[in-house]
Amino acid sequence: MRGKLVAGNWKMNGGLASNRALLDALLPAVAGLDGVGCVVCAPYPYLAQVQGLLQGSNLAWGAQDVCQFDNGAYTGEVSAAMLIDFGCRYAIVGHSERRALFGDTDDVVAAKYQAACRAGLTPILCLGETLVERESGVTEAVVARQLDAVVKVVGMTGLAKGVVAYEPVWAIGTGRTATPEQAQAVHAFVRGCVAASDRVAAGQVPILYGGSVKAANAEQLFAMPDVDGGLIGGAALNAVEFSAICRSAAEAAR
Ligand code: 13P
Repeated sequence: MRGKLVAGNWKMNGGLASNRALLDALLPAVAGLDGVGCVVCAPYPYLAQVQGLLQGSNLAWGAQDVCQFDNGAYTGEVSAAMLIDFGCRYAIVGHSERRALFGDTDDVVAAKYQAACRAGLTPILCLGETLVERESGVTEAVVARQLDAVVKVVGMTGLAKGVVAYEPVWAIGTGRTATPEQAQAVHAFVRGCVAASDRVAAGQVPILYGGSVKAANAEQLFAMPDVDGGLIGGAALNAVEFSAICRSAAEAAR
């Protein structure tokens, strides 16, 4: 049985003082939660700080991206092995902001997914359609294309080693959350795509929902059978909100 997972994506926010305050408040609030894995994905320069503060706790940490190459002349990039050095367990790949603003194509995302796995990280693969795509009825085609690009490179067994996050672009940072039914429909579609070629992998892969998740809507989203947790943006910067979301996931796991 899959447990629940809640990952916070801090995006390009934070600083030494505010990170410490956030984690100092978060640690006691999530200590002892059963049935849910809690993760924070910090900006690269703060991974050492996060490692120092979270080592030995039940909060795991990760990065928001990773380079597709293992080492060498790639100025400005950060390898999966470097993330491992700082105790990261997870790396987000294919976030819609990276796809839209930094040119991460389906093929690049697949290569990043593979590089993360190669080093022993768990990739969190983001999929999701824009508003225009949803309104033109191609949501399933878009998420299937984004998923297939990764499966083509790592296979279904590779996919089962990671985490999928469905993040409709129109719900990110907009306050316009997908309804639990809208999320469930796409999650079930994604799981069905996996099940069509590997039923075991389909049962294993956690599928998180992301897009304006807050303490107030987490419970209903996590009650959906194919919603295995959340990838949280804005609300992950607030210890009270983020810990309440983690608690909702723990309750849903019971
Ligand atoms: P918000 O929770 O701020 O909508 O962001 C979601 C997201 O992009 C997480 O990766």
